[in-house]
Amino acid sequence: MRNSVGDVNSLGIYIALQDCSTKGKTMRALVVDRSQEEGLSFAEVPEPVPGPHQAVIAVEAISLNRGEVVRKEAIPGTVPGWDAAGTIAIAAADGSGPPVGTRVISMYKMGGFAERRAVDVERLAVIPADVSTTDAAALPVAGLTGLGAVRAVGPIVGHRVLIIGAAGGVGRFAVQFAHKAGAHVIASVGSEARAEGLRELGADEVTVGVEQVPSGLYAVLDTVGGPAMISAWCRLQAGGILVSIGRAAREDATFHAYDTPMRDNLRLLCFNHTGPIVEDLGYLLDLVGRHELDTQIDWSGSWNNYAEAVNLLKSRKLRGKAVLTLS
Ligand SMILES: NC(=O)c1ccc[n+]([C@@H]2O[C@H](COP(=O)([O-])OP(=O)(O)OC[C@H]3O[C@@H](n4cnc5c(N)ncnc54)[C@H](OP(=O)(O)O)[C@@H]3O)[C@@H](O)[C@H]2O)c1
Repeated sequence: MRNSVGDVNSLGIYIALQDCSTKGKTMRALVVDRSQEEGLSFAEVPEPVPGPHQAVIAVEAISLNRGEVVRKEAIPGTVPGWDAAGTIAIAAADGSGPPVGTRVISMYKMGGFAERRAVDVERLAVIPADVSTTDAAALPVAGLTGLGAVRAVGPIVGHRVLIIGAAGGVGRFAVQFAHKAGAHVIASVGSEARAEGLRELGADEVTVGVEQVPSGLYAVLDTVGGPAMISAWCRLQAGGILVSIGRAAREDATFHAYDTPMRDNLRLLCFNHTGPIVEDLGYLLDLVGRHELDTQIDWSGSWNNYAEAVNLLKSRKLRGKAVLTLS
């Protein structure tokens, strides 16, 4: 087997001829910078040197996620960024993955907010011709989380499902998947203004807060945490499940010893998106191509204007996703 930068010898052992084409070069990136209000600033950083099973993507669009934007443990000077879409600039040296020039979307725990990203081929998916690079960039973390959290509940056809934080990036995907799965979807938002567009996505009811929601919920999907999570827990029917996805409120959720029900086979699932992503990313891309899933991009623009997008996200003014293009 031959490829551009590697070979397999007569014993079948892969000999990596390390691709040195990126060594010593620098690129523009957004790096963690605690001195800035947004927590980011532009810097010149070394281009990534790919491992044999990694492709290098020339990044064209990235999306923001609350988890990375407000991440306190991120190391200053490092390149954050989970979602990045673009074109394969260097194919994986071991011959796996798509060839140079293929449009792809990728998801990894860092390195996306840069002109180039090296990523294992299992962390990317090919973007179909009928899906824009911008739409693809909105999908990985928020879309996979919305999908995975709905799946975690199990069959929900005909059941009442409450989604807390429904107006956010994850929430807007969760609303769509719960609706697709046949649930009666109750979308909880922080204010009336945040309800915009949720009924069109499949919410049967929209409620401000959780206090007005009648008891007897089959399931709760929660991205907010804090007192709202406890309030929702108290509204579950016997055998009900609360899927805790996130804690956007950054407040404690206290299960009071006597006031909070701890009975009737109630289940609390602490959700985290793990496992293979290629198949599910392909599913999301396919749905977008067929206009059966809306990426809910509320802000798009050049990454030079990243501060505007970050501030909208942090101040709860973004209805869904922000996608930044590297132009
Ligand atoms: N477990 C996982 O695998 C996973 C994956 C992705 C995200 N997450 C977590 O899920 C949460 C939501 O992520 P996201 O990307 O959807 O964020 P987002 O787009 O910013 O949405 C957050 C939502 O939380 C609501 N919220 C309520 N109280 C809030 C407060 N005090 N501050 C900020 N938001 C508040 C907002 O409601 P209103 O808009 O109605 O005001 C908003 O819709 C985050 O905690 C994130 O870390 C977890």
